[in-house]
Amino acid sequence: MPAANSLDTQDINVREMEEYRPLLHRPLRKKIIDFERDGRLKHVILATQFTRPLLEELCDLADMVRELASDPEGRRKLSKLLSHLQAMMYFTQPSTRTFLSFSAVCRLLGIGTEQVRDSAVSSESSEGVKRESRFDSIRMFSSYFDLIIMRSSIPDLAECCAYLMNELENQEFNTRNIPIINAGSGADQHPTQALLDLYTIRRTFRFADEKRTPRPQFEVLSDAYPNLTADVSNKTFAFCGDLGRGRTVRSLVELLMKFDNVSMVFISPDHPKFQLSDDLISRLRDQGVSFEEVDSLDARLDGIPVLHQIDCLYMTRIQQEHNNQEDNDFFASADMTHYHLTPERVDQMRSYAPILHPFPRDSVAGEIPTAIDGNPRAMYFHQARNGLWARAALLVHIFNADRALTQAYREHYADLHDFNRAVL
Ligand code: CP
Repeated sequence: MPAANSLDTQDINVREMEEYRPLLHRPLRKKIIDFERDGRLKHVILATQFTRPLLEELCDLADMVRELASDPEGRRKLSKLLSHLQAMMYFTQPSTRTFLSFSAVCRLLGIGTEQVRDSAVSSESSEGVKRESRFDSIRMFSSYFDLIIMRSSIPDLAECCAYLMNELENQEFNTRNIPIINAGSGADQHPTQALLDLYTIRRTFRFADEKRTPRPQFEVLSDAYPNLTADVSNKTFAFCGDLGRGRTVRSLVELLMKFDNVSMVFISPDHPKFQLSDDLISRLRDQGVSFEEVDSLDARLDGIPVLHQIDCLYMTRIQQEHNNQEDNDFFASADMTHYHLTPERVDQMRSYAPILHPFPRDSVAGEIPTAIDGNPRAMYFHQARNGLWARAALLVHIFNADRALTQAYREHYADLHDFNRAVL
């Protein structure tokens, strides 16, 4: 009977994950070692795996990919870098940007891809009678592919899959430990989104001359903002919306903590579920990061509107998919316009301050109305495109092709006799 079978398989899936509970509950610094090999990332599970030097390196690689991808000969060079690899895209939770950008990146780097986007059409199906466990599916993927990029609504699943792979490596007759990339897990982590967010922030604060983003130049800005520096450090970042349940916020906060003299302002409904979670608050305190929590985009700190004081605003949607009835009742009675941008609010921001959003935005709630899309501060579509270059850089790093990329880049621009185009 299908109902009993599906219950059995779910029980097995839960039990298999339970076996990794002791590993999941270790301190971060101990876990991170398990996700590395020979000084490189092997599995990408948690944003905190990205050290500051690695972030700088990945951003530089991303710049090279970006430049090479801008003309046909450069794309031809990129397409040879990892053409010996095959990737499995295992996305059992909906995704547009992450799925499509990883697909496009694999094509760019010559990696072949296959996909499972709905476990109902695999032997893992809970409706069927095959009763394949989730971890058996993952082991099968590792037989056919060189990389698993996975998105799941199940917290910690990607992390458990990384431990499963590591176990295989240690078994005498099973040696296929292939990289696992967490492309979004539960409400917890979205490390590659944080990487592309950080890449966007870094490029924005370089104040370089960008053809397609007519943003104010540093020389002009430094007259109006004498303390402004052209880097990620020494900045105030605001996060607005559903901060407790937004995995992109959690992951980006982890990355920004690694930069010097960074401050943060968290703007969310005054409710424990939607405010930044206690574990992250503790990490901010432990790292000595200065932060404030307020309940409106119109809030003031020391008598000055928050919007006047920030260098970057990261907007998020309310994660309705996690709502229970109590949450629905809360939102029905709360004034959510406190968390919606308007052209008037944007006008209060510093002229250079980027507005980011991981997207999708909620087209009904309207936390960022389309009227703001043409504002030079609006960086969210550039941010999404940057996902191509940042994710490509990550794959190049994992598969030890950074030297080959650098060589391809140098050859290409030597051919053109135009090193000045280089942004490194
Ligand atoms: N930002 C993001 O993860 O978007 P998707 O859910 O569409 O992949």
